[in-house]
Formats: sequence, structure tokens, C-alpha cells
Amino acid sequence: MLPPVIAPSILSADFARLADETHAVDAAGADWIHLDVMDGHFVPNITFGPPVVKALRPHTDKFFDVHLMIAPADPYLAAFAEAGADGITVHAEAGPHIHRSLQTIRDLGKRAGVAINPGTPAAMVEPVLDIVDLVLVMTVNPGFGGQKFLKSSMEAVARVRAMVAGRDVRIQVDGGIDAETVKAASRAGADTFVAGNAVFSGGPGAYAERIAAIRAGAEGASGRDLSC
Ligand code: DX5
Ligand code: ZN
Repeated sequence: MLPPVIAPSILSADFARLADETHAVDAAGADWIHLDVMDGHFVPNITFGPPVVKALRPHTDKFFDVHLMIAPADPYLAAFAEAGADGITVHAEAGPHIHRSLQTIRDLGKRAGVAINPGTPAAMVEPVLDIVDLVLVMTVNPGFGGQKFLKSSMEAVARVRAMVAGRDVRIQVDGGIDAETVKAASRAGADTFVAGNAVFSGGPGAYAERIAAIRAGAEGASGRDLSC
């Protein structure tokens, strides 16, 4: 299994101080920075677009993990790539041509991710596994930070883990991840962990401790036990 990646989601940061917050989680040990883009259409909330990604880009060298919760996604892929995304994840439910979207991300020279919502079968990602670097299994219904982790998504994580065997593909979970729930996700086969509320709710003084606790939970868990 790949070493765990902890990706704080700036959705839960203080939006009035985004550059400072990005510096702070970078210094506190974040591996990646997760950027949640929402359009008020695919999900019932609106966040930010390429200009905010571009504005934050000079503030850290960390991998920018851009999670697009938008439909359609294709018209915006180049803009997010130019703004400084390192990886771009699109939802399998967001349009009829997911293969084309992933190919476009690869052609832009970025790492391609495919995401599935909790109500979507894991089998949906199988046809595109050859052109992805990451599969994101949502552990909440996307749209908001601070929601409760859905244990029922662990079965999808385990199925995706079995499907990607032998491939260099990360399995990411996103939603309700904290130092406890990360254990079940890790046991099910996830190796890349988004955390919003669990990192940011303690304020900047606690970021390092919060990130370390999530990492310790991920590293301590093993096997494929689906219990929490
Ligand atoms: C949910 C977003 C998540 C969210 C995670 O729609 O995709 O990245 O910010 O936040 P927490 O960890 O608070 O559930
Ligand atoms: Zn996200």
C-alpha cells in the first residue's frame, strides 16, 4: 500500500484569510492541499473557481488537489490546469463523457481523478481505471464540510481497492474524516485522506496536532476489516 497522504480541505478554512490558512496547513504537515470547487448545480453550494486557485498557487509548493463538483466540468478543465492544479478530480455522475474528461486532464499534463458519490456503484469507475491516477470515494454527499462520515461507503472503497490491484492508483476518501473514521477508511483500502473540519476546527495552533492524529490513525490501521 502507498504511504498515506493527508489533504486538508480549505473549504473549512477561514475564507477571509485563505493564503495564511494555506501557509499554516503546509507548515503543519499537510501532504496535499484539497480545493473544493462547487457550482450550485451539481451540488447545492457554491465555492470558488480558477482565480482563487491561481491566487493561492504562489503560497505553497504542495500538490494542489482540485476536486470539481461541477457539471459540466469539461469547459473549465484547462482553466484549472492553468491556474495551478496538480491533480483534477471529476465526478463520474457529472456528465456522459467521463472518459473524455479524464483524457483531457491527462493531456493537460495533470493527474486525473474520478470521484463517485455515496449513491453510485463502485463499478462505475472500472472502465476508466487505465486513465486515472486517483479514485475518490465520497464518504458524505458532497456540498458541505462538517457532515457525518458514511460507513456505508467502506464497501465501495474495498471494491475499488480490489479493482485497482496492481495499478499505481490512489484511493481517496472525502467527508467526515477524522482521527477515528480514518481508521475504517484505511482498513477498507483508502490511502489518501481529505479532512476539512477535523483539521481546521481547532484553529491554526492545533493544525499540526490534528494532521498528525489523522496520519497516525491511517498508519495504525491495516487489513481490510470494514468495521468502525
Ligand atoms: C464535501 C467536500 C469535502 C469537505 C470535507 O463536499 O468535497 O472536501 O470539505 O470536509 P469535512 O472533512 O469537514 O467533511
Ligand atoms: Zn472534496
